Amino acid sequence: MNKLLESFLRSDHAGEVGAVYIYKGILTIAKDPELVEFSTRHLATEKEHLRKIEEVLSADKRSKLVGLWKIAGFLLGFLPALVSSKIVFATIEAVEAFVEEHYEDQLKYLRAQPNPDTSLIDLLQSCQDDEIEHKLESGHKKQLTPGFFLKIWIKIVGGGSAFAVKVAKVI
Ligand SMILES: [Fe+2]
Ligand SMILES: [Fe+2]
Repeated sequence: MNKLLESFLRSDHAGEVGAVYIYKGILTIAKDPELVEFSTRHLATEKEHLRKIEEVLSADKRSKLVGLWKIAGFLLGFLPALVSSKIVFATIEAVEAFVEEHYEDQLKYLRAQPNPDTSLIDLLQSCQDDEIEHKLESGHKKQLTPGFFLKIWIKIVGGGSAFAVKVAKVI
C-alpha cells in the first residue's frame, strides 16, 4: 500500500473512531426514545465501518491520536445531546455531509488509477452509501431551520472535521 493510500485510510479510521464515539456520547445522556433508537442503530453501523477499515489498516499504521479522536467524537455527540435531539440531528447531518465528500474525494482518486483497487473502492463505497443514508435521515429528523447559533455550530463542526482529517492524514 502506498503512502497516500495509507494516509487516506488513516483519516478514514480516525473518522470512524470519531463516529463510534459520537453515538456513545449521545447515548450517555439521551432520553428521547427516537434519538436513542437512531443512535443505537447508527452506532452499530459505525462499528461495522470501523471493523472493515481495521481489516485493511494494520494497528501500526493508524493515527497516533486515536485517544483525541475518541474525545472529540464523544463531545460532538454529548454536547448537542445536552441541548436537544434536533440539535443532535442537525450536527449529524453536518458531520455526514462532510464525510460523504471526504469519501467522495478518495473514491474519485481510486477510480482514476490505472489499475483501480476494486475491493478498496467497494469498501469505501459501502461506507459512503451508509453515511449518505445517515445524512438524509438526520436531515429529515431535525425538523428545524438553523438559527444564528446553530449555523455557527455547524461551521465549527465542518471546520473541525476538516482539520481533524488533515491531522489524521499525517499522524
Ligand atoms: Fe461511518
Ligand atoms: Fe455515519
